[in-house]
Amino acid sequence: GFPDYVKIVEVGPRDGLQNEKVTVPTDIKIDLINRLSKAGLSVIEATSFVSSKWVPQMADHTEVMRRIERHPGVQYPVLTPNLQGFHSAIAAGATEVSVFGAASESFNKMNINCSIEESIEKFEEVTKSARNMNIPVRGYVSCALGCPYEGNIIPAKVAEVSKQLYSMGCYEISLGDTIGVGTPGSMKRMLEAVMKEIPVSALAVHCHDTYGQALANILTALQMGVAVVDSAVAGLGGCPYAKGATGNVATEDVLYMLNGLGINTGVNLYKVMEAGNFICTALNKKTNSKVAQASFSV
Ligand code: HMG
Ligand code: MG
Repeated sequence: GFPDYVKIVEVGPRDGLQNEKVTVPTDIKIDLINRLSKAGLSVIEATSFVSSKWVPQMADHTEVMRRIERHPGVQYPVLTPNLQGFHSAIAAGATEVSVFGAASESFNKMNINCSIEESIEKFEEVTKSARNMNIPVRGYVSCALGCPYEGNIIPAKVAEVSKQLYSMGCYEISLGDTIGVGTPGSMKRMLEAVMKEIPVSALAVHCHDTYGQALANILTALQMGVAVVDSAVAGLGGCPYAKGATGNVATEDVLYMLNGLGINTGVNLYKVMEAGNFICTALNKKTNSKVAQASFSV
């Protein structure tokens, strides 16, 4: 059966903006995060502590973290690929971080410039330091349903990397369909393999919507007991190291589906739509959310 409550992890300010070609003003990013905080989201991924040579859009990470409003009960995790990023994140006031690996060697190399094995060593350093400071660490596994360079990825590899991250202390493993190629069929097979290694209560799904399968894939995951869903306001998003990958599933569309299923999220759909309208106006873009398109066109 479906879970009674689903936690939405809003990744718009990070995944949604990291791929934008034009530098988004820091004030706009902060305003977006503040609006999302007021919508009742409990997790808002705020920025990345990665190299500004690799991802220039996230270069203002410290200022973003210092100036956002911290709402009680809301977590603002940030991406930290290594100890350097972790230390900068903590110095900027981060209280939760995420490491991000992959089930594909080629993608991992393109994305964070090292092999899967080397990345696991770096993540172990991060989780060890984080544990000493009582900082929760989330773990991503990209290419869980396919890779832009290698194509098909076997579920056993996803399960293996997920288990490594879980064993080192990541409290939650977010399974990324980085390029949105998955279907309910491949989602089910992948989750079956991962659930043999990790309790379903520690799993999240992170679906990009490139092939229009994201909501169907999420529904499949919910039916299998997953109760954490990553999504981005207005369906923004894309990874600079995954060519052709389009946005994340829109938070508005996930909320509309969950509301229809009677699943509680604590999130106000209308306020998320307003935040989506704000960021799309600022970026001079049309929303990717079907729900927002339907509601603002009248
Ligand atoms: P590298 O070049 O291999 O790092 O980059 P290095 O350790 O060899 O150091 C080289 C230089 O980078 C040095 O500076 C370091 O200080 C600097 P220099 O001496 O040349 O001036 N450096 C850093 N600077 C800032 N922050 C750091 C950091 N580490 C080293 N943390 C690195 C390795 C990981 C930094 C680089 O490859 C990188 O920044 N990659 C970007 C990764 C990224 O942000 N990708 C997008 C997010 S992942 C995603 O979107 C997928 C996800 O959404 C899930 C899904 O959809 O599947 C999460
Ligand atoms: Mg992503």
